[in-house]
Amino acid sequence: MKPKVVVTRRVPDRVIELLAPHCELDMWGEEDVPIPREVLERKIRDADGLYCLLTDAIDRELLDLAPRLRVISIMAVGYNNIDVAEATRRNILVTNTPDVLTETTADLTFALLMATARRITEAERFLRAGEWRTWSPMLLTGQDVYGATMGIIGLGRIGSAVARRARGFDMRVLYHSTRRNEQAERELGAEYAELDDLLARSDFVVILTPLTPQTRNLIGVRELALMKPTAVLVNAARGGIVDERALYDALKSGRLWAAGLDVFEREPVPTDHPLLSLPNVTALPHIGSASIRTRTRMAELAAENLLDALAGRVPRCLVNREVLGG
Ligand code: DGY
Repeated sequence: MKPKVVVTRRVPDRVIELLAPHCELDMWGEEDVPIPREVLERKIRDADGLYCLLTDAIDRELLDLAPRLRVISIMAVGYNNIDVAEATRRNILVTNTPDVLTETTADLTFALLMATARRITEAERFLRAGEWRTWSPMLLTGQDVYGATMGIIGLGRIGSAVARRARGFDMRVLYHSTRRNEQAERELGAEYAELDDLLARSDFVVILTPLTPQTRNLIGVRELALMKPTAVLVNAARGGIVDERALYDALKSGRLWAAGLDVFEREPVPTDHPLLSLPNVTALPHIGSASIRTRTRMAELAAENLLDALAGRVPRCLVNREVLGG
C-alpha cells in the first residue's frame, strides 16, 4: 500500500508528478488559501507524510492527531510554524528547502533596501497620482546606498549573499550572529559587532535571522532608539522579530528614517495596519524567494525530501538529525 501524503495547498504540477507514483495524495486545492484547521485535523489522522507551507501551524495538538506521521516537509527554509521539538520527540523527520532560494532572496532583500532608501514605491505612487508638477531640487530625495554601512543581523546563507552584493556597492558590512562566521569575515570583509554596536553604526540594518524564542521581538523600543535617525531597517526574515508597535512609533516620530518590510507579525497584513499608513514604509507581501525558477525548485525539493524520508533514505535537507540517532 502506498503511504498517504497530505499536501496543504495546490502545488506545481511537477510536484504531483514526483509524488503521485509513490504516494496516495490528498491535496487541499480548492482555492489558493490556507487549508482550514479543521480540514487539516481530519486529513492528518491517517497520514504518513505531510507536505506543508509556512502558513500552516504544525503544533503539538495537530501532531497528537497524527499517530502514523513520519515526515513533515515544508516548502520554505524557515520552519518557525512547526513544533520541531515535538516532532523530534515523536521521531517525525522535519525537512525544509534551504540553498535553492538563497540568491533569489538576497536579490529581493537588496531590491527592498534600495527601494526604501530611494523611495521608489512612494515616488511611483506620487507620479501615478498626478502629483508630479516639475523637477525640483529636493523632490523625493532619499539615502545613498553606495559607500554606506550595512549591518546584517543573521549572517547565514542569505545574509552572506546579501553581504556579497553589498561589496559591489562599496559598502562596509557589519554583522551580528549567534556564531562568528569566519569565512564571511575572510572572504567578504564582514566585521563582527555586538548588536547594540551594529545598530548604532549602521545606515542599513538588515534582518535575516530565523524567528526563534530568542529572536522574537529582538528589535524593540530600546534597539530602535540606538539606530541613527537617518537609518533604514529592512526585514526579510520573519515579522515577529521586530516589535511592530515600536517600529511604527519610531517611523512616525521621525526617530527612524524608513523601513522596508517583506514580512509581518500577522500575514496577510491587514490593510488598515498602522505601518501601512506611513509613507516611509515600503511593504511587500512576503515575496523574498518568489522567482518562478526558485519557487519551482523549492516545491520540487520539498517533494524530494518527503519521498526520501518515506523511503527510509536520509533526506537532503533534514532539520532534526537527532531523529536518526547515533
Ligand atoms: C522561507 O522560505 O522561509 C521564506 O520565508 C519564503 O520563501
